[in-house]
Amino acid sequence: MKLTDLRGILQYIPQFREKTFILAIDGAIVTDENFATLLLDVALLWSLNIRIVLVHGASAQIRALAEQQHVTASDFDGTGITDAATLTLALTAANRLTHEILEGLSANDLRAATTNVIIAHPMGIIQGVDRLFTGKVERVDVELLQSLLAQGVVPVLPPLGFDGDGKTYRVNSDGVAVAVAEALNAIKLIFITSQDGLMCDGRPLRHLLVQELERLLQRNPGGFAPDMLSKAQHAAAACKAGVARVHVINGQVEEGLLAEVFSNEGIGTLIYANEHRHIRPAKKKDVRAIQLLTEEAVEADELVRRSKATIEKHLSEYSLFEIDKNPVACVALHLYPGQHKGELACLCVSASHENQGIGRKLIQFVENKARELGLDELLALSTQAFTYFEFKGGFSEGSPDDLPPERRELYEQSGRNSKVLVKRLRQPSLS
Ligand SMILES: CC(C)(COP(=O)(O)OP(=O)(O)OC[C@H]1O[C@@H](n2cnc3c(N)ncnc32)[C@H](O)[C@@H]1OP(=O)(O)O)[C@@H](O)C(=O)NCCC(=O)NCCS
Repeated sequence: MKLTDLRGILQYIPQFREKTFILAIDGAIVTDENFATLLLDVALLWSLNIRIVLVHGASAQIRALAEQQHVTASDFDGTGITDAATLTLALTAANRLTHEILEGLSANDLRAATTNVIIAHPMGIIQGVDRLFTGKVERVDVELLQSLLAQGVVPVLPPLGFDGDGKTYRVNSDGVAVAVAEALNAIKLIFITSQDGLMCDGRPLRHLLVQELERLLQRNPGGFAPDMLSKAQHAAAACKAGVARVHVINGQVEEGLLAEVFSNEGIGTLIYANEHRHIRPAKKKDVRAIQLLTEEAVEADELVRRSKATIEKHLSEYSLFEIDKNPVACVALHLYPGQHKGELACLCVSASHENQGIGRKLIQFVENKARELGLDELLALSTQAFTYFEFKGGFSEGSPDDLPPERRELYEQSGRNSKVLVKRLRQPSLS
């Protein structure tokens, strides 16, 4: 999606307004040169009345600081043993990062506040080993966060937890992000990392249900790179705790955050707790979505170019496949009532949702509709997907003679030389 396409963005506004997004930013991203641009994206989200909480990590900075000061850190990410020296490093690194974030938010005219909303207790002794100053989130001060958010303030949370006795603990930032997302009923948790999303065995994961991610984590945890395993585990935990969508994106990609939030394709990994998929008739406002969906296939000569006016004229014949109100595929059934024939046309699945059976579902949908209308035959014309129609849709190769006369004329005129595919829905009557 072109980010200049305001209409594309506007369609998401009603579902995001007054909702909470948690942005969990790795420390390495805060010091990256793209961070200022990322904060511009944050400012845009905020201006659309989306409530934002920023949680940040600090492991890259703890590592750098330890080297600089010739101190051996006992742990970097708040999961192992945090000794007193490492806690001091973590406090210095985290405070500096929080300050940088506050500076950047000020530069974008956003009011922000660093808080002590993470109430933690010591992780304790696990298998005989005392984790010292490593903490575990006990609870989140939701009231304070809500009142800040209600006043338009962006809370900034370091990877530190506070107990009631004036002690500070190093906590894992991914864990903080999940706890806060759950406590605030956030609709999105976005992990902003220096990787292009989650990969398993070198294969990028683009969209997956939380159950699929859990299965991968159970069967093949080694398939994830060590630094991304935590994101995968926490993403699954967040979905299970009620966060509908968890994203893992690369914070170094310019306008990546906006592309992830405001486009179907996204730039990273989306893990979802559930989804609403359905096929519905196209409406007037969908004409542009149909053109956008089919743009690439038209360029590749897989589909014939259709003008806005043509789509509008035949709009009642189009249907859209939606996931969470986002159109990801379309199809049309053109009717030739005189011949009792229908043509399945304009079947197109967005590249990001291919190979999930959506194409087959739309073929089945059109076929059912054609049967309901009592048609004898379903036709399809294709230049590059004819074997798809044969092997996945049960069509057989036909010839231009199978086309109704008016369609045949158009066929000849187009010069596309598409293959004609036929599926008989009823045996021809003997009379
Ligand atoms: C063809 C298209 C509709 C398939 O949609 P989809 O939702 O990805 O397909 P499904 O998930 O139902 O099926 C995937 C299977 O079809 C196969 N397939 C996908 N495109 C194919 C093609 N062009 N030719 C042959 N087989 C194809 C896949 O390899 C996969 O096979 P497998 O199940 O054996 O692994 C989609 O690729 C598309 O939109 N193409 C561009 C437009 C087009 O050509 N439309 C047809 C003319 S109307």
